[in-house]
Amino acid sequence: MRFAAKTGSATEQKTACLILPVYSSGALPASTKQVNSAANGLIADLLRDGDIEGKVGDTLLIKPPQDVLESRGLRAERILLIGCGERKNFARKQYRRAVGVAYAALRKTKLENAVCFLNSEAARGTDAYRRTRIAVEVWHHRAYRYTATRSADAAKPCPQTSIGLAAKPAQAAQVRQGIKHGDATGRGMDMTRELGNLPANLCTPSHLVTVARQIAKANARLGVEVLTEADMKKHAMGALLSVTAGTAEPAKLIVLKYNGAAKSRKPVALVGKGITFDSGGISLKPGSAMDEMKFDMCGAATVLGVFQTIALLKPTLNLVGVIPACENLPGSKATKPGDVVTAMSGKTIEILNTDAEGRLILADALTYAQKFKPELIIDIATLTGACLIALGRHRSGLLSNSNKLAHALIKAGDAADDPAWQLPLDDEYKALLKSNFADLPNIGGRDAGTITAGAFLSEFVGDYDWAHLDIAGTAWLSGNRKGGTGRPVPLLLEYLLNRR
Ligand code: BES
Ligand code: MN
Ligand code: ZN
Repeated sequence: MRFAAKTGSATEQKTACLILPVYSSGALPASTKQVNSAANGLIADLLRDGDIEGKVGDTLLIKPPQDVLESRGLRAERILLIGCGERKNFARKQYRRAVGVAYAALRKTKLENAVCFLNSEAARGTDAYRRTRIAVEVWHHRAYRYTATRSADAAKPCPQTSIGLAAKPAQAAQVRQGIKHGDATGRGMDMTRELGNLPANLCTPSHLVTVARQIAKANARLGVEVLTEADMKKHAMGALLSVTAGTAEPAKLIVLKYNGAAKSRKPVALVGKGITFDSGGISLKPGSAMDEMKFDMCGAATVLGVFQTIALLKPTLNLVGVIPACENLPGSKATKPGDVVTAMSGKTIEILNTDAEGRLILADALTYAQKFKPELIIDIATLTGACLIALGRHRSGLLSNSNKLAHALIKAGDAADDPAWQLPLDDEYKALLKSNFADLPNIGGRDAGTITAGAFLSEFVGDYDWAHLDIAGTAWLSGNRKGGTGRPVPLLLEYLLNRR
């Protein structure tokens, strides 16, 4: 899929499909008005006759009469009218929705290309850059299909190959920048979704290594290092090794490095939970929906998606990614409840529940990340079912030892329509982590499950500024739309690309 800025007016666009906005009030936006005049009032007639009401989500695909085309008043073969609701209510959310339905309608056709004018409407809370970026990201999202293990669908590629986005000449640079960022973000999210969706028998820790190497190969400023289990032993990563103990599948710790700024600039470190399947281990999970625990590597997939985007955009920043990857399975060598292990940091952990494994692999990854003397550390993890109970599927959970960092991430999430919500980390919560047999237990009891998990992680970040994103509710959808969402790639990119 290619995207391009189109500076010509609506009637000048030679395209298979012109996507035009209409409002429910009947007042026509400038682009639509121009086409309406060229087509002898056709669109106004359709609105008046009720063929399309103009509510947000309404669509109408029309074929302009032959005489209009022959008179060269219009050069588009089809017009797709998209309802934008009442003009005074047209804001960011309505815009996003309108773009989504436009692409859904287009995706159902065989039309190979289109030029979209929705983004030339001034939606409240947006500028031309943001509207373009949203359009491109939404298009990627709608165009994505999982085909890797579905032979019937693999042969059906997306019919659309190029999309034009209207750009007023004065805003052409903004629109081009929006396309560039939106396209790279979309590609990153596609990768994150695809890795999440791939079944655990294919998406193993070794597969994540292959993907990391592929990303790095395309960009000279990117490098990858992989620690094997033997290396983990040398580094005394007892917490990570305790989780992989029950499986024959080799664990990996993947380190990605992007050097886009001066060596003296400290990197941001991203740490992503990469449990490629979480059965719970000896503390076995109940059977229902256990298949969804293939998504337990979505933190890792997020880090890889962000690196994919960074590899395309080559921004001026330094970034380190650390991905601890393994399976959590029961077995004769599996870790048992009550076992005490020593983490790389030297702290001992009593493993009271082998299903609280994410925090164990993250403990060692967070310790390892400090080797790179980062400016700050952000970890991303499908860490607790409790987060889904607390926040549902709309906002990711955010915990941090730095309110400044927390606020910056919340702001980035809101700007990117990939929102998060901060939960507290008072010492009173940390006090819930008490063990009679080790420095720490790996669970804190029934209360405040997301917070005690965050409190556990906070024990492994030293004095570094750190934030933890619990994406248990946001990384994938269940039910008939089951699949990876690509979140929180937009939040992280918004933060990274706008950081000074
Ligand atoms: N990967 C799960 C968290 C999870 C569960 C995410 C369901 C999304 C949906 C994590 O490893 C886990 O099992 N957490 C336990 C922690 C508990 C044992 C303290 C949980 O949430 O039940
Ligand atoms: Mn678990
Ligand atoms: Zn897990």
